[in-house]
Amino acid sequence: MPDVSPTKWHLAHTTWFFETFILKKFVSGYRAEIPEYAYLFNSYYNAAGDMHRRDLRGLISRPTVGEAQRYRASIDSHVDDLLSNLDESLLDEIEPIIVLGIHHEQQHQELLITDIKHVLAQNPLHPVFRVPQDGGRSSATPGLQSSPLHFIDFEEAVTEIGHGGDGFAYDNEGPRHRALVPAFSLATRPITNGEYIAFIEDNGYQRPEFWLSLGWMTVNEQRWNAPLYWTKRDGAWWNFTLSGLRPVDHSEPVTHVSYFEADAYANWAGARLPTEFEWERAALNYPMEGNFVETELFHPAAVSAQIPEKNRQLTQMFGDVWEWTRSAYSPYPGYRAAPGALGEYNGKFMCNQYVLRGGSCATSRRHIRRTYRNFFQPEKRWQFTGIRLARDPE
Ligand SMILES: [Fe+2]
Repeated sequence: MPDVSPTKWHLAHTTWFFETFILKKFVSGYRAEIPEYAYLFNSYYNAAGDMHRRDLRGLISRPTVGEAQRYRASIDSHVDDLLSNLDESLLDEIEPIIVLGIHHEQQHQELLITDIKHVLAQNPLHPVFRVPQDGGRSSATPGLQSSPLHFIDFEEAVTEIGHGGDGFAYDNEGPRHRALVPAFSLATRPITNGEYIAFIEDNGYQRPEFWLSLGWMTVNEQRWNAPLYWTKRDGAWWNFTLSGLRPVDHSEPVTHVSYFEADAYANWAGARLPTEFEWERAALNYPMEGNFVETELFHPAAVSAQIPEKNRQLTQMFGDVWEWTRSAYSPYPGYRAAPGALGEYNGKFMCNQYVLRGGSCATSRRHIRRTYRNFFQPEKRWQFTGIRLARDPE
């Protein structure tokens, strides 16, 4: 799959990032041990030179995993040497790039998980990446009813959007600015597998009236009839998870759906997807807690059962599944990409993609922010992507 990279490529590429943007820039006379790595492990930075084709990364059998790890150890020790013999003024220059490199690596750690899942899913033996915490018994909990879907009303407001103040943020989260957010309602929780099955059983994938034109083309070309990793066996839905093949649990948030599917579901349900500004406003006072990669579930957790007090508050805003918004991934007012190669990090992708918010079960808790803008093309579904509905006032 052209979006998926081998595990060792991620290891070597995140290493290349430090070698290219720290060592080659700040160590005088630095010489790469293996100059060809610059070509193999550059992802998309045109200003840093030519690169190997992404869709062919899986064909590269050398360097081995061991060699990629030696490469990492070597670059780490060079960076250590540099940092331990550094004067203050140079440290001020290097520190933001080191911090960016660490956040970059966290992004690739998420991709490691989703890419491993995609590769394992191709294997008819359904390999188990991690034995589930219940020891392999089905995670399905028949009889457990998810809480009914409620909506919370938000008044019209002029809201501060984007990152401000201290701490790291990507450039695409700024400049912080004011935005008018008209009144809207937001669902208290993500859409579940059970709710999504109702859409499938109502022939959602066969009814063009719910779909964007590009989405309808994609459904037909790709012959989609369910989320990625789902298969039907003896009349029941199963899905491939990082804990192997399991019956679809109706109470888990639906995941591995594209923007097209999220949008079609919302139309079918008489609702819509939220804008990223609505989402950010709603998340303003929401605690930064959730099912992140640190729980090592590597799968969305079931939505809470019928707890009346939970019906009137937002749940699972962070972690579990990235939530598709209907906002195109565009620059905020006043945004300018930085000059040079690092300016290629985010800005040049602001076309033909949609913003996702909140992080997933594969995201690090230490990586996410309320202002975090993830982005993918509308047909992508190998990330842990899900659906939260919004509505206009009655
Ligand atoms: Fe990267």
